[in-house]
Amino acid sequence: MKTLTVFSIATLASAQVAPYGQCGGSGYTGSTVCETGWVCQSQNEWYSQCVASSSSTTTRAAITTSTSTRSSTSSTKTTSSLTSSSSSSTVASSTDFPSVTGLNFTIDGETDYFAGTNAYWIGFLTDDDDVDLVMTHLNESDLRILRVWGFNDVNTVPSSGTVYYQLLSDGTATINTGSDGLERLDYVVSSAEKHDIKLIINFVNNWSDYGGMAAYVTAYGGTQTGWYTNADIQAAYRNYISAVVSRYIDSPAILAWELANEPRCQGCDTSVIYDWVKSTSAYIKSLDSNHLVCIGDEGFGLDTDSDGSYPYTIGEGLNFTLNLGIETIDFATFHLYPDSWGTTDAWGDGWITAHGAACAAVGKPCILEEYGVTSNHCSVEAPWQRTALDTEGVTADMFWQYGDTLSTGETSDDGNTIYYGSSDFTCLVTDHVAAI
Ligand SMILES: *[C@@H]1O[C@H](CO)[C@@H](O)[C@H](O)[C@H]1NC(C)=O
Ligand SMILES: *[C@@H]1O[C@H](CO)[C@@H](O)[C@H](O)[C@H]1NC(C)=O
Ligand SMILES: *[C@@H]1O[C@H](CO)[C@@H](O)[C@H](O)[C@H]1NC(C)=O
Ligand SMILES: *[C@@H]1O[C@H](CO)[C@@H](O)[C@H](O)[C@H]1NC(C)=O
Repeated sequence: MKTLTVFSIATLASAQVAPYGQCGGSGYTGSTVCETGWVCQSQNEWYSQCVASSSSTTTRAAITTSTSTRSSTSSTKTTSSLTSSSSSSTVASSTDFPSVTGLNFTIDGETDYFAGTNAYWIGFLTDDDDVDLVMTHLNESDLRILRVWGFNDVNTVPSSGTVYYQLLSDGTATINTGSDGLERLDYVVSSAEKHDIKLIINFVNNWSDYGGMAAYVTAYGGTQTGWYTNADIQAAYRNYISAVVSRYIDSPAILAWELANEPRCQGCDTSVIYDWVKSTSAYIKSLDSNHLVCIGDEGFGLDTDSDGSYPYTIGEGLNFTLNLGIETIDFATFHLYPDSWGTTDAWGDGWITAHGAACAAVGKPCILEEYGVTSNHCSVEAPWQRTALDTEGVTADMFWQYGDTLSTGETSDDGNTIYYGSSDFTCLVTDHVAAI
């Protein structure tokens, strides 16, 4: 999911598009102007949508107003690589790392289907109690897996109190290991350990929210589709991976390392992403043979049961089956956003069963790692959950995204958010977990 990539289109048409309505895309002829407070966000070549202009800036704003003070001078140059981190991450209480058993995950000795969710923002919070509150609620709800952003790249140092993990500037990468940097992720990992939550942590964003590949391109030059093969960029990316992996290499709270959020390479030969996945995942395994590795892609480029619609095509430079065959990839990920992909909600069931079949054929599990709609959450998403649960090869699902009320107020509402304690939460978490 994109969480911030917003662009405003100059006022052209007169009528204003309602929240979550279509406002652009190839062949679209309607108004491109969203109601006040909403901005037109490109989802893909064919579809742009009005989203709240404060979507993920809410989280950032909340962070800025909180009381954390800027750390002293604890940033380290990436070039001074990694003697670091006898990090604050707590000592493993168990040496049982999550693993794959056939087409399932085994977590804390249990081989089963698992429910989970996404809270990309949790490592950017500055109040430990807020992190613990979320972890407590997740555990109580039996949401066992949480996916968080393990990146937060900037090109200029943000204002004091705003968390960032890596500064990319003028061809140099500087990892922020301080109290407004990776120490915040340390706290997430240690809290996950305490509350028996397993984390999926990724290293870069395809989208430009929280920096993303665009932040590397700004610092090193090149193009976005060239990101995957640019030697300087890949060296910095690997150095960042190494910095994060080494901090939590012994933690049983890491379910998996994930190469990126929704990597795409539009119009590229599928060999570009394939080669990058192959070499990067092998690199991670060379650093850490204990933890699982996955890609974080949307599941695009699938021949199995394809209906020829956009997500099944290789137009975004991915071949799902080809990539899943890579030895150092332990399980597959796929996402589901019919609203953004120009498909129907009911189409989602076939998308889920097609991926399950492809995963079963390769002999690795897959997880429905993100899914969401902006209205009628229960009636649309609960059937997807049932389909996922009933599909061999699918071993977990994680709705996008988790919401809660923190010391700074409610967490980011992008229309997809399911708040702890809400009736949608009862439907999509309590009832779903009971069915599992
Ligand atoms: C995997 O989990 C499913 C439940 O989704 C269960 O039916 C199946 O027996 C499990 N397989 C193994 C090998 O435990
Ligand atoms: C998780 O929640 C359950 C209650 O649902 C509680 O019994 C257990 O102690 C909690 N575990 C942790 C590690 O917090
Ligand atoms: C993410 O993917 C889309 C689709 O290929 C592309 O338009 C966009 O530029 C990508 N973002 C970056 C930062 O590469
Ligand atoms: C995707 O990869 C698989 C496995 O290598 C291959 O059989 C299939 O033809 C590829 N699909 C496309 C559309 O290239």
